[in-house]
Amino acid sequence: MLVVLSGLPGVGKTTLARELARSLGAPHVRVDAFEAALGVRDGDGDATGYRLAHAVAGDALRSGRHAVLDAVNPVRAARDGWRTLADEVGVPLLEVDVVCSDPALHERRVRERTADLPGQVVPTWEDVTGRPAWRRDPDEPAAVVVDTATTTVARAVGDLRARVHARPEQVAVPASLLAAGHRFGGWAARGEPEVVLRTERLLLRRWREADLEPFAAMNADPEVMEHFSSGPLDRAASDRLARYADACFEVHGFGLAAVERVGDGAFLGFCGLGRHRRRPESVEVGWRLARRAWGHGYATEAGRAWLEAAPRFGLERVACFVAATNGRSLAVAQRLGLVVQEEDVWAGQPVVVLSTPS
Ligand SMILES: CC(C)(COP(=O)(O)OP(=O)(O)OC[C@H]1O[C@@H](n2cnc3c(N)ncnc32)[C@H](O)[C@@H]1OP(=O)(O)O)[C@@H](O)C(=O)NCCC(=O)NCCS
Repeated sequence: MLVVLSGLPGVGKTTLARELARSLGAPHVRVDAFEAALGVRDGDGDATGYRLAHAVAGDALRSGRHAVLDAVNPVRAARDGWRTLADEVGVPLLEVDVVCSDPALHERRVRERTADLPGQVVPTWEDVTGRPAWRRDPDEPAAVVVDTATTTVARAVGDLRARVHARPEQVAVPASLLAAGHRFGGWAARGEPEVVLRTERLLLRRWREADLEPFAAMNADPEVMEHFSSGPLDRAASDRLARYADACFEVHGFGLAAVERVGDGAFLGFCGLGRHRRRPESVEVGWRLARRAWGHGYATEAGRAWLEAAPRFGLERVACFVAATNGRSLAVAQRLGLVVQEEDVWAGQPVVVLSTPS
C-alpha cells in the first residue's frame, strides 16, 4: 500500500511518517530529504524532489513493500501524482491529511523546528502563513485526517496501521504472482479446471499466454479505454493486468476471467469478480470486451453467470462501479438488476456505485 501523508510544514507529518514507516517495516520517503539534497525548497515550483520520491516509492511498491510518503503536497498535481503512481503500480492508496488544529501549537512547532537534514532550510512561521491555505479540491477523494493537536503519535500510528492491515485483501495478491514470470495456468498442476464458469455462448476461464496479444490489442483501443483514467494501455501494462486478473483466482478463488466464445474459441476480453482499490471491502463485478464483441449480449451473459455464482464464493452482495459517462456499462449493470446505491467522484470523475439488491 502507498500511504501518503500530506500537510503544511510543522504539523507533525514527519514524526508520524517516521513512526508509521518503522512500524510497517516500510521505507519513509520524505520529499524534504530530496529537496534538501537538491538545494530546492517546497514552494519553489521545482518538482524534482517529488519526481525522485516517486521513483523511490514506486521501486519499493513494485518489490511488494508498503511505502510511506511524506510531503506537503500543496497542489492538486502533486496529490494526483501519487494517485497515478498507485494506479500504475496496482497498489491501494491511503491518503492522510495531517493537520494541527491549534494555531498556537502549530506556530510553536514551526518556530522551534531545527533542520534535521544536511542542507535543509526550515520554513519560518511567516513562510507557512504566507502560503495559500492547504486544502483539497471538493472533487478530490476524501482522506483520513489526523489532527496532531488532539491525538498522540502512538494513537495515530495505531489507527493508520489498523487501516493498512484491516484491508488484507488489498495486498492479498502477492507481488510474486504478478511478476513477469507468472505462469498462466498454474491451476493445471493442482488439477483445477481451466474453465471456471460456462454459459450458453461463452467459457469464462483462467488465462493463457496466448490471450496476452489480443488482450493488449483490446487495451490499446481508445474506444474500449475511453472511460478509464489510465487511457489506452501499453503492452507492459496490459500484460500486468492479465497477470493480476489471473492471480486473483489463486488468492481469492474468484477473479477476472478471460472470456472465450464457444464455437470459434475467440478471446473476447474479461469478465469477473475482483476487489477495487478504492473500495477493497466490497467485491465488484467487472467487464471489458474487445470492440468487435460489443452488441451481442456477451457482457450481460457473462456478468449474470458471475452474479449467480457469487454465493458459492461466500459473497452475499456484489458491487459494481461505473463511470457516470459509461452508458454501455451502466446498461449492462441495469440489465443485471444491479441497483444504484450512491454517486461518488474518483480522481475528478463521477462514478455510479451499484450493487446487487439487498
Ligand atoms: C461495457 C461493455 C462490456 C458493454 O458491452 P455491450 O456489448 O454493450 O453489452 P451487452 O453484452 O450487455 O450487450 C448488449 C447489446 O447487445 C445486443 N444483443 C445482440 N444480441 C444479443 C443477445 N443474443 N442477447 C442479448 N443482447 C444482445 C443488445 O441488444 C444490446 O445492444 P445495444 O447496446 O445496441 O442496446 C463494452 O461496452 C465494453 O467493453 N466497454 C469498454 C470497457 C468498459 O467500459 N468496461 C466497463 C467498466 S465499468
